[in-house]
Amino acid sequence: MAEDSLMRGAVIRSWGTALPPKVVTNHDLEQTLDTSDEWIVERTGIRERRVGGTTSGLAIEAGRQALDRAGWDPSTVDLVILATTTPDQQVPASASTVQNELGIAGGAFDLNAACSGFVYALIAGHGLIGAGMSRVLLIGAETLSRITDWDDRGTAILFADGAGAVTLEAVDGPGQLLGWDLGSDGSARHILDADIGGYLEMDGREVFRRAVRVMVESGNTALERAGVSASDISLVVPHQANIRIIESACTRLDIPMERAVSVLDRTGNTSSASIPLALADAADAGRISPGDLVLLVGFGAGMTWASAVLRWQP
Ligand code: ACO
Repeated sequence: MAEDSLMRGAVIRSWGTALPPKVVTNHDLEQTLDTSDEWIVERTGIRERRVGGTTSGLAIEAGRQALDRAGWDPSTVDLVILATTTPDQQVPASASTVQNELGIAGGAFDLNAACSGFVYALIAGHGLIGAGMSRVLLIGAETLSRITDWDDRGTAILFADGAGAVTLEAVDGPGQLLGWDLGSDGSARHILDADIGGYLEMDGREVFRRAVRVMVESGNTALERAGVSASDISLVVPHQANIRIIESACTRLDIPMERAVSVLDRTGNTSSASIPLALADAADAGRISPGDLVLLVGFGAGMTWASAVLRWQP
C-alpha cells in the first residue's frame, strides 16, 4: 500500500432509500394498544411508520438505487458495509446476501452499533479508503418490527423498518470528513436491549436523558476536531428517535431547529437506517448545497454514539 494512500480522503457520490409499502399509522396502533395519536405525536413526533420486508431486501433496494445514481458498475466496488441490529440470520452476515444480489466484487460485513451504526460505518469506510480502497457502499437497514413487542405501548409506537445507502469514493486530497467522534458506554447496555430471539426492552426516560447528553457531547467534539463552530453548520442530520430529543440536543448544540432534518413523523425510529434516510431526504429536497457543512449525530443502544462533520461535495 502506498504511503500516500493513507492521506486519501473520500466523498459521498450518491444515495438511495427503501421503505416497505405497508404504512402503520398512530390510529392503527390505537386499535390494539392503550394509546392515542395525540399522545404519540406530542411525546415523539411520530405520525406513521413503515413495516415489512427483510433487512437484506431493503438494503439491496437502497443499495441498488445508490449504485445506479452514482453510475457505478458493482464489480468496481471494494466493500459493502451493512449497519444493522436486525440481520436476517444469526449467521451469515446479511451483507453477504447484499453483496451477492448486487453483484459486488469486493468484501462484505455487518456492523452493529445500534442507531449509531450508520455513522460508525461512515467513519470506518473513510478509514478503509484511507488504507487503500477506492469505492465503498454503506448501507443502514433494519427490520425492527421483527424484534418489537406489538403489545408493548412503550416501544411499539417508536420502532419501524427501512434502509438508506450512500456510495463513498476515494478522492485526491482530504475529502469531505473534517472531524468525527465515536464512543460507547457499555455500562448502560441494560437500558435498551433485546435478547436473541426476544423483543426490545427499554427504559425510555433513561434513554432520553442520556441521548441528549451524548448527542451534545459527541456533536461538540466532532465540531471541535473539525475546527468549526455550530454556527458554521448548514444542516444537522440527527438520529431519528424522538423529535423532543432532537429539539433538546439542537438547543444545547446552539443549532436552530430549522437547520435540523426530521423525517421521523413518516418513518418512526429505524435505527441504523434513520440517518441515511434523513440525509437522503434533505439531499433530494435540495436542502444541502456543495460546500455546506453537515453534522451527522447518532446515538443508540450500547449506549453508543457517533458524530461526523462533512463538507458536502457529492
Ligand atoms: N401511550 C399513552 N401513554 C403512554 C404510552 C403510550 N404509548 N407510553 C407511556 N405512556 C404513559 C406512561 O405509562 C406514563 O403514565 P403515568 O404518568 O401514569 O405513569 C406517562 O405516559 C409518561 O410516561 P413516560 O415514560 O414518562 O413518557 P415520556 O414522555 O418519557 O415518553 C418515550 C416516553 C416516548 C418512550 C420517551 O421516553 C422516549 O422517546 N425515550 C427515548 C426512546 C428512544 O429514543 N429510544 C431509541 C433509542 S435508539 C436505539 O438504539 C434503537
